[in-house]
Amino acid sequence: MGGSCAQRRPAGRRQVLFSFLLPLFCPALCEPIRYAIPEELAQGSVVGKLARDLGLSVLDVSARKLRVSAEKPHFKVDVESGDLLVKDRIDREQICRERRICELQLEAVVENPLNIFHVVVVVEDINDHAPQFDKKDIHLEIVESVSPGARISLDPATDPDINTNSIKDYKINSNPYFSLLVRVHSDGGKYPELSLEKPLDREEQRSHHLTLTALDGGDPPRSATANIEIFVRDTNDNPPVFSKDEYKICLSENLPPGTSMIQVTATDQDEGINAEINYYFRSTTQSTRHMFSLDEKTGMIKNNRSLDFEDVQRYTMEVEAKDGGGLSTQCKVIIEILDENDNSPEIIITSLSDHILEDSFPGMVVALFKTRDRDSGENGEVTCSIGRDVPFKIHSSSKNYYKLVTDGALDREQTPEYNITITATDKGKPPLSYSTSVTLHITDVNDNAPVFHQTSYVVHVAENNPPGASITHVIASDLDLGTNGRVSYSIVASDLEPQALSSYVSVSEQSGVVFAQRAFDHEQLRAFELTLQARDQGSPALSANVSLRVLVDDRNDNAPRVLYPALGPDGSALFDMVPRAAQPGYLVTKIVAVDADSGHNAWLSYHMLQASEPGLFSLGLRTGEVRTARALGDRDAVRQRLLVAVRDGGQPPLSATATILLVFADSLQEALPDLSDRRAPSDSQAELQFYLVVALALISVLFLLAVILAIALHLRRSSGSTTVGCFQRGFCSKSGPVVPPNYSEGTLPYSYNLYVAQTGKTEFNFQKCSEPLHSTQDIVCGDSSGDLIPLHVGDDLTSHPQTLAPVSFVFCIFSNLVASYISKVLLHLCI
Ligand SMILES: *[C@@H]1O[C@H](CO)[C@@H](O)[C@H](O)[C@H]1NC(C)=O
Ligand SMILES: *[C@@H]1O[C@H](CO)[C@@H](O)[C@H](O)[C@H]1NC(C)=O
Ligand SMILES: *[C@@H]1O[C@H](CO)[C@@H](O)[C@H](O)[C@H]1NC(C)=O
Repeated sequence: MGGSCAQRRPAGRRQVLFSFLLPLFCPALCEPIRYAIPEELAQGSVVGKLARDLGLSVLDVSARKLRVSAEKPHFKVDVESGDLLVKDRIDREQICRERRICELQLEAVVENPLNIFHVVVVVEDINDHAPQFDKKDIHLEIVESVSPGARISLDPATDPDINTNSIKDYKINSNPYFSLLVRVHSDGGKYPELSLEKPLDREEQRSHHLTLTALDGGDPPRSATANIEIFVRDTNDNPPVFSKDEYKICLSENLPPGTSMIQVTATDQDEGINAEINYYFRSTTQSTRHMFSLDEKTGMIKNNRSLDFEDVQRYTMEVEAKDGGGLSTQCKVIIEILDENDNSPEIIITSLSDHILEDSFPGMVVALFKTRDRDSGENGEVTCSIGRDVPFKIHSSSKNYYKLVTDGALDREQTPEYNITITATDKGKPPLSYSTSVTLHITDVNDNAPVFHQTSYVVHVAENNPPGASITHVIASDLDLGTNGRVSYSIVASDLEPQALSSYVSVSEQSGVVFAQRAFDHEQLRAFELTLQARDQGSPALSANVSLRVLVDDRNDNAPRVLYPALGPDGSALFDMVPRAAQPGYLVTKIVAVDADSGHNAWLSYHMLQASEPGLFSLGLRTGEVRTARALGDRDAVRQRLLVAVRDGGQPPLSATATILLVFADSLQEALPDLSDRRAPSDSQAELQFYLVVALALISVLFLLAVILAIALHLRRSSGSTTVGCFQRGFCSKSGPVVPPNYSEGTLPYSYNLYVAQTGKTEFNFQKCSEPLHSTQDIVCGDSSGDLIPLHVGDDLTSHPQTLAPVSFVFCIFSNLVASYISKVLLHLCI
């Protein structure tokens, strides 16, 4: 087609008129016949009078076979009228879519002659479509923090119709937040936009529902709606909020670690991460933080370790809650710890005198101590006590300070140390207590004197002991300690000569062993007594005395000694004269021997060793009396010699010998020649005879005087006839020992003997007697015949002590002296 064609616009009826003329001038290729129809015409609707417009008659229509051809058979030709009819539905939107002008090209064909005509049917739009949204539900999300004025583009609706039938406007339902704007693009498209009118608050309204309506410009207009849902996206515009500003709790101490104590909770109105709250400690001391653990997520506070009221009574901490957006709030947590009786009392000894003198007075302070209990209130109130059975008590000097004082007498010897248990008890429920022991040592004081193990000591020491030998051991104990108990021994008194004491005995100062310092002699000292003292070293020292009696026992250390017959001063033997007519049993003489020992050691026996005429004499075993055993025969010698052994009873026995010379004669004169036969008369015989005469005269005078004196006394007293017995016999035995009648039984106490110690010098030695002189014991004198004449001490000596006893003794002594003198003289004369 040419440009002019293109510019030709279909013009309804006028164009149809023109097209009627066209085939005449420019057949086939000229201006097409144009028709305009609205779309969606019903089938059979007349589009145009094609035959007429082609200049054909009704007859020609069928004759020349008018018909239309097209790509799509939308149209047909009515064979009757030659009108162009709608054959099929014509949808502009389908056929032309977006095109603004919708033209359908078709050819009308006639035969005879064959001719082709172009026909254009313009399809015009009708408002047959409503607008349409792609999505009926639109979801939008807007951050709540977006400020008013912000715009949100929305997807436009579509409408296949064109021109006025297309979309003309949009609307939304009225709401306070959003308004709708319609933006028109240069191509005429309209785009809706939401505009925010006032700030959003998710916490207030988390979503908004709007209805968007699209309207087209048809008449009547058609519309479509879409639901818009706007979600308000959260922003962290709300801080967390704690349920309380301050949390306070009271808990008892000693809860096990890990106990849930308190939970802080905060809420956040935001959502999502903005509402995720974590909890932290804030402005809390490090020490408190170590005590507790805070669960970041839950806000649970647990104790990390056991809480101790005594350490901290109140914990204050600040907890911060922080949301994911970084907003935070704080709260205060106060944990008060309540006391429990979980601490035992303590005892602190501040001073302790561990040594106390045993003589300390009651009330002396021994120790100072104090108590402490870390608990408070009643749990911390402490009382103290000690055991009942010790002599100590407690004084409370001031609160929690105490004194331990003595409460009674102390005796180290009984209890040298005390373990005192002090118990402190608090008043908690249940109470707790604590005990401690102190050991107190009692110091010794010299309050005990030494005590000897025996009240007195008696010790027997055999005589002739070696000097320096220990004779006994005294022991004294002292209960005190150390020097107070160290005992030393000494001799403080004795019945010995003070000067001689040290030469007799000594005592070891340390050991109490008593030593003999010399050999004791029973014959000189039979016993002595010492007072020993044990003395301790205390200050002042204490002492005790004990008596020690030392008895010196006899040993057979003295041989018997023959006193009669004795040898003359020149060593010659004396003789005894025996009357020729002596009857058998006549007491010829008596051997007198002594033994310085005592007891058995001095019990003498006499034994005939040798006799010139055996059988002529008998010898008393115990008496030593020599008697004739038979009458003297004619053949018997005038002079007889006997050798006698004197033996004591000791073990082993000691002995001595005596030689007895006997002369059978009736007078001294008769005997003397016998004697002088053997010896030449001495030159001084004349002198001796003179002495003899003088002595005899003197003796006679003295004897006479004595007799007179005795008679005079006797007459005056006219009693004590027996005392003169001795005197009447004229001879008082000078021999000793003179034994009492019971001697032969061997029971003679050694302690009393009267004996002549020496022949040359006659003296009486009264031995010290251990027993008092009994009245029944006799002092005896013997006459020459050997008869014993008892002097009854009980009768005479004690009843007339001042008279008879001395007199009789004087007689004895005197007669003894005279006799000995005479015998001496006689011996001299004989020899
Ligand atoms: C609390 O105890 C736990 C476990 O015993 C430990 O891991 C944590 O470090 C403790 N916290 C503090 C603050 O001491
Ligand atoms: C005191 O205690 C000590 C030590 O515990 C002990 O050796 C001693 O025997 C006790 N003494 C007494 C008298 O109980
Ligand atoms: C012990 O004997 C001595 C001397 O005789 C005397 O001085 C002292 O007082 C006696 N002591 C006692 C405790 O008897």
